Amino acid sequence: MPGPLLNTLKGFSQEIAPVWLMRQAGRYLPEYRALRAEKGGFLTLVYDSDAAAEITVQPIRRFGFDGAILFSDILIVPHAMGQGLEFLAGEGPRLSPTLLEANLEDFTSAHERFDPIYETVRKTRGMIGESVTMLGFAGSPWTNATYMIAGQGSKDQGPARLMAYRDPERLQAICDAIVDVSITYLRGQIDAGAEAIQLFDSWAGSLAPDEFERWVIAPNAKITAAIKQSHPDTPIIGFPKGAGAKLPAYAVETGVDAVGLDETLDPVWANSVLPEGMPVQGNLDPLLLEAGGPALPKRVRTVLEAFEGRPHIFNLGHGIGQFTPIEHVEELLRAVRG
Ligand code: CP3
Repeated sequence: MPGPLLNTLKGFSQEIAPVWLMRQAGRYLPEYRALRAEKGGFLTLVYDSDAAAEITVQPIRRFGFDGAILFSDILIVPHAMGQGLEFLAGEGPRLSPTLLEANLEDFTSAHERFDPIYETVRKTRGMIGESVTMLGFAGSPWTNATYMIAGQGSKDQGPARLMAYRDPERLQAICDAIVDVSITYLRGQIDAGAEAIQLFDSWAGSLAPDEFERWVIAPNAKITAAIKQSHPDTPIIGFPKGAGAKLPAYAVETGVDAVGLDETLDPVWANSVLPEGMPVQGNLDPLLLEAGGPALPKRVRTVLEAFEGRPHIFNLGHGIGQFTPIEHVEELLRAVRG
């Protein structure tokens, strides 16, 4: 029996919206911080399938979310393509050498780095109840390219955007390579037990309209088409953060089954421009969840009401922040589930 989250993704509205939260496995949870302190760094946890499965299940145990998202990171794809990857405490990811200093051909691909991730999916699927949906994911090619080119998070994705104008063929080759590896990776996750997948395009919002077509819509459409061919029954959620008015084009042209909305979008507007019956996910501001107070349940109701009659998965507009009080998450669940 598929659970309420999977049913929603298949187009069936539920009386009570299913809920999961982006970054639900992570630092706001004391049990995550404890395991991380015991095992060492973030990447050690990701490649340790027992630890990663345990972390994936932690928020399900505590809150009873309807979906379990694989504990991993989008940058595992660049790492498997042979780029060096480290997470510096308090600073975030570092990829080396960058694609300003080196070419893709200089890297030795290491797809065996995907094996422990598949194992995490398999283990987690065995640990959660049948009604909890196992979610896999990958970063979208553009977002991964911005990290591979700059070697780290960048203020406005400047290095990748400059490459898009100065040397589009080079960026095209990079995105094509990420597309190919991501297809392999997502198929592996589905074969291991992922029942739906999400494509995270966290930096989609930094692109001008024509650029958005080329670097966001086109590569996501390629991934979606390939997954549809091999795994037609696995729903795909696209999350083009910052897409703004380009959301309806993204929703239709990529071929994704559902769209994740960031918190800047008015849900009433989104509901009016998206194809009828297309499932949506979102879109409470993660900072409102952190702040709490009477505005929190009020906003939850506004979002739920905006999507009445449309298949809707309740989520945040972006990842949950590390300083979010546990009680605010509990309050959010009460507000959604009544
Ligand atoms: O949602 C989940 O709970 C599943 C796991 C998950 C992580 N990262 C774990 C993580 C997922 C789906 C991601 C996606 C991800 N990673 C994105 C896309 C979504 C988004 O948030 O925009 C991006 C851009 C990354 C790259 C990344 N990973 C950055 C920039 C950082 C450092 C900043 C930060 O938030 O710490 C990470 C580290 C990271 N990924 C942590 C976790 C739990 C924190 C690691 C730690 O210090 O314990």
